[in-house]
Amino acid sequence: MPVRQGADVIEPKGRLGVLLVGLGAVSTTFIAGVEAVKKGIGQPVGSLTQMGTIRLGKRTDNRVPLIKDFVPLAKLEDLVFGAWDIFEDSAYEAAMHAGVLEKDLLKQLKSPLQKIKPMKAVFDQNYVKRLNGTNVKTGANKFKLAQQLIEEIAEWKRKNRCSRVVMIWAASTEIFLKQHAVHKTLESFEQAMRDNHRSIAPSMLYAYAALKSGIPFANGAPNLTVDIPALRTLAEENGLAICGKDFKTGQTLMKTIIAPGLKARMLGLNGWYSTNILGNRDGEVLDDPESFKTKEESKLSVLEYILQPDVYPDLYKDFSHVVRINYYPPRGDNKEGWDNIDIFGWLGYPMQIKIDFLCRDSILAAPIVLDLALFLDLAQRAGMKGIQEWLSFYFKSPQTAPGLYPEHDVFIQLMKLKNTLRYLRGEDLITHLGLEYYD
Ligand SMILES: NC(=O)c1ccc[n+]([C@@H]2O[C@H](COP(=O)([O-])OP(=O)(O)OC[C@H]3O[C@@H](n4cnc5c(N)ncnc54)[C@H](O)[C@@H]3O)[C@@H](O)[C@H]2O)c1
Repeated sequence: MPVRQGADVIEPKGRLGVLLVGLGAVSTTFIAGVEAVKKGIGQPVGSLTQMGTIRLGKRTDNRVPLIKDFVPLAKLEDLVFGAWDIFEDSAYEAAMHAGVLEKDLLKQLKSPLQKIKPMKAVFDQNYVKRLNGTNVKTGANKFKLAQQLIEEIAEWKRKNRCSRVVMIWAASTEIFLKQHAVHKTLESFEQAMRDNHRSIAPSMLYAYAALKSGIPFANGAPNLTVDIPALRTLAEENGLAICGKDFKTGQTLMKTIIAPGLKARMLGLNGWYSTNILGNRDGEVLDDPESFKTKEESKLSVLEYILQPDVYPDLYKDFSHVVRINYYPPRGDNKEGWDNIDIFGWLGYPMQIKIDFLCRDSILAAPIVLDLALFLDLAQRAGMKGIQEWLSFYFKSPQTAPGLYPEHDVFIQLMKLKNTLRYLRGEDLITHLGLEYYD
């Protein structure tokens, strides 16, 4: 199906189902936030689809509409939420437990939140060592579990009268898995599901079920999940959009804001030491070395790609990059991220930058979930299939086509995103060329 351009993008009609895997801190902060915005008691701060604008044409044209007025996005009123979790708590109880949003606010949203009860999860403790729950499906093998998900999705869509559905993984980080031969083709992947092969993680079963059900999929955690040839091919063949991995919030967001600036000024880097303390369930899961390894891989690659040591060896060769995450319960969701950055300038003179980011992880992640749900749905209606690189803006480890390196620079990512929207609407792309009469 070709990418639709100009006025050709299909308008959103009916309700959009947002299926979330995991009903923890991020998911409940997202759902409660949307409900608060709908009620007029909160603002969707941090969401490009709700607050962002886009410049069109020449600077003198003065055409700067809101993104949501420029491209046909689903309205917040038309979103319906569903979720799976290994715990039975409703979205209201889970949000109370997560402790991100104030209890007073949550009480005002109790009615819609309480209605969201998680479906039984596909879960295996071998992939998330620190968790154990009872709201879990049973099945003869992984293939059968995936079939259960497919049936459940169809039933959920029908019951909730949705015309379209998107799925987002916002469940715990699974252990580090490398690509395996069974991930190569759909046939080998399906056989491996029947064989209960170790290389098939629960997250892959959700992604498979989504793609088999005609639903685009985004991966908010660093798990391998949809980043394997079998599922990439399935997405292409079924004309479905996919993207991932790992929501770009907190420390990595800061890194991808600051590193491009250092590089733009040709300032050198000797080392970047990052450490975090966080006390939520995510922190507890990441306290397990195997889950942390998945996260570490995702966090470490960012600087290498932005700074290009091969192109600028005098500035960036062999810089030291360390990332630590420490589980510290008293902090809850309010993470603290410290960065010590050793840079050097003119004639190699050293300088230091210290960042102490008292951040709220789920507050930064919630608008990303909203934007991804709306943009994935847009991509689908525009006939865009396979990996959506223009959504790299939202990820720590953007998924790219094989052979391409990921773009991590947040400013280039934003330009790519906005130019994709301009392209979809048949508007001129903005190059910032700056020539008189052409700018
Ligand atoms: N908060 C952020 O800023 C941020 C940023 C990037 C990535 N992430 C990732 O997003 C994910 C969610 O983060 P969170 O803070 O909401 O974590 P959380 O622990 O509060 O929520 C995760 C939920 O997923 C559930 N779960 C685990 N395995 C499951 C399965 N197989 N099926 C269904 N449910 C399952 C858990 O029971 C839990 O309720 C994590 O993987 C985290 O690493 C979060």
